[in-house]
Amino acid sequence: MLAIIGGSGLNQFPELEIVGEQKVQTPYGDCSAPLTFARLRDLQLVFLPRHGQGHKLPPHQINYRANMWALKDVGVTRVLAVNAVGGINSTMGPGVFVVPHQIIDYTYGREQSYNFLTDGYINHIDFTHPYSQVMRQQLIASLLAANLRFQERGVYACTQGPRLETAAEVLRLRRDGCDLVGMTAMPEAALARELGLEYAALCLVVNWAAGLDSNELNMEDILKTLAAGMADIKKTIFIFANQ
Ligand code: HPA
Repeated sequence: MLAIIGGSGLNQFPELEIVGEQKVQTPYGDCSAPLTFARLRDLQLVFLPRHGQGHKLPPHQINYRANMWALKDVGVTRVLAVNAVGGINSTMGPGVFVVPHQIIDYTYGREQSYNFLTDGYINHIDFTHPYSQVMRQQLIASLLAANLRFQERGVYACTQGPRLETAAEVLRLRRDGCDLVGMTAMPEAALARELGLEYAALCLVVNWAAGLDSNELNMEDILKTLAAGMADIKKTIFIFANQ
């Protein structure tokens, strides 16, 4: 079963045909919201708003472990994460979609592992390619079919937040080879891998990262770009889910 994790702006998905809702108990506590089960033509899927209903949870307070555990628990095998991000690469300005292929994790203090033991040893998962190559190709095909502006690769810098970056931090991210910056890819992607879930991300650039254009960042513009992109995000998800 496919799960969609909605990011900022995608807290609700009224276009889905809802078939049920379930509050899942996990050993790690509560997830961001009850899981919404929905149907998209013949496909059953689960929707989970990462920031909770009404966007209450900042990125560093999301219970990523509970979220991924709950999805696995109800039978999810594939996770499509949606993230709003800032653009660092000059080809990734506001309104452009990116299907990232790599991550650099700058977060700290987040519960980032289930600390699995296998035969008494810590299971160091392979994370060479953090995103599912198969799902990435399906996303790229969906964006092409939807006729949207997108980049099919990108290195995602995951910062701690909730504040946005300083200009110097963004220059450092660029020197590090990062193309986009957001706050929610980690530890979500790694936890998915620990649980054996296929995982890929659909990122929408909603602003130039701090210091890259002459203006300071303002949430009003960011939210406007996000709102403008929401129909395209949903269109892409519908195509993706029906492949
Ligand atoms: N930085 C970090 N996270 C973000 C940004 C940004 O510029 N835009 C949207 N999410």
